[in-house]
Amino acid sequence: MPPVIREYVPLAPLTTFELGGPARFFCQAATSQDVVWALRWARDENLPVFVLGGGSNLVVGDAGFPGLVLQLIARGLEFRSQGDHVVLEAQAAEPWDDLVAAAVARDLAGIECLSGIPGTAGATPIQNVGAYGQEVADTLHALRVLDRRSLEVRALPTAECGFSYRNSVFKREPGQAIVLSVCFALRPGAQPVLAYRELANALAGHARPSLSEVRETVLDLRRKKSLVYDARDPNRRSAGSFFTNPIVSADQAAAVSAQAVDEKLVQAPEEVPQYPLPDGRVKLAAGWLVERAGVKRGLRMGPVGVSGAHALALVHHGGGSTADLIRLAVHVRDTVAARFGITLQPEPVFLGVTWPPRIFSAQGSWVESISR
Ligand code: EPU
Repeated sequence: MPPVIREYVPLAPLTTFELGGPARFFCQAATSQDVVWALRWARDENLPVFVLGGGSNLVVGDAGFPGLVLQLIARGLEFRSQGDHVVLEAQAAEPWDDLVAAAVARDLAGIECLSGIPGTAGATPIQNVGAYGQEVADTLHALRVLDRRSLEVRALPTAECGFSYRNSVFKREPGQAIVLSVCFALRPGAQPVLAYRELANALAGHARPSLSEVRETVLDLRRKKSLVYDARDPNRRSAGSFFTNPIVSADQAAAVSAQAVDEKLVQAPEEVPQYPLPDGRVKLAAGWLVERAGVKRGLRMGPVGVSGAHALALVHHGGGSTADLIRLAVHVRDTVAARFGITLQPEPVFLGVTWPPRIFSAQGSWVESISR
């Protein structure tokens, strides 16, 4: 039985922002055959296709999406021993945190620091999800993908995913492949990774923390930043970090530190959070830049605002629109750019809405808005 296609399905309830218009067409696919059928249908109808995961890193435009939204619904976890590793294979629609909890419960190391992240397992490679010193690319062993052009299923080794900080070939070239399942190579009984200072500090009293202690500590840290979904939390309607941490040259990072000292934002340059990268560049903390540029936690712009718990998370408080959210995001981006000369890039995927918002010029072409 082929899957059904429905029209005008509201997308807002399928996103953590709870914003955006409907999908013109919507289809749930339980098998790879269902996916192929839906892709063929969309091709015959000449419609664009968007594959929806958990909707936790997604901004949908107020007019919705004029094509087919495809939601994979296959779930399931499978553990296989392979040499000194255990391979955990998850079907795309498995909630990510169930995977982490299952691995930790079996004392399998590799993804424990990625506890409490919303969304589905199949979506994690798209933006190479990372937190507290681990990222998906570190342990992802292989993926099963459906090639959208040939409609064939194939195994894709991690080396072909083009992973970098919050990026992958899937994000850079959308429309090429659909992730059907992900395989992680986990290490039985191995020590947890404590590379992130905030996490190491929180676990300082534990000589040899277990994987479940690491998981609980990460969950606590994330809860304090409103980054674990809780229906009673006023900061819950968000996509986590709205902007990625900017990667700048060492000179630029030094200039920001010097400016921060000059302006008495810090006493010493090393108080500006910075993470040197192997290629000589430096990752700065977008949340720090946002706050020090003068955008306060808890700022409200009508029905949207900045999270009271973390300056990098934008929040919808209910009754708002995606246009409200975009206006706020532009305000944050421009405030940081005016103060520090760094243009923040958003982390979520945009559907049916362009980022950055553009202006149609008198010369008859679209230009990027620079409202500084
Ligand atoms: N900071 C501020 N003000 C804020 C928030 C942060 O000054 O409002 C400062 C902190 O004091 C710290 C630095 O900025 O010195 C970094 O903050 P934090 O440790 O909270 O991490 P982050 O860089 O803001 C990143 C990821 C998170 C991930 C955490 C923990 C990005 C864009 N964000 O946040 O990922 O959970 O590290 O590893 O890389 C996400 O991608 O959605 C996400 C939540």
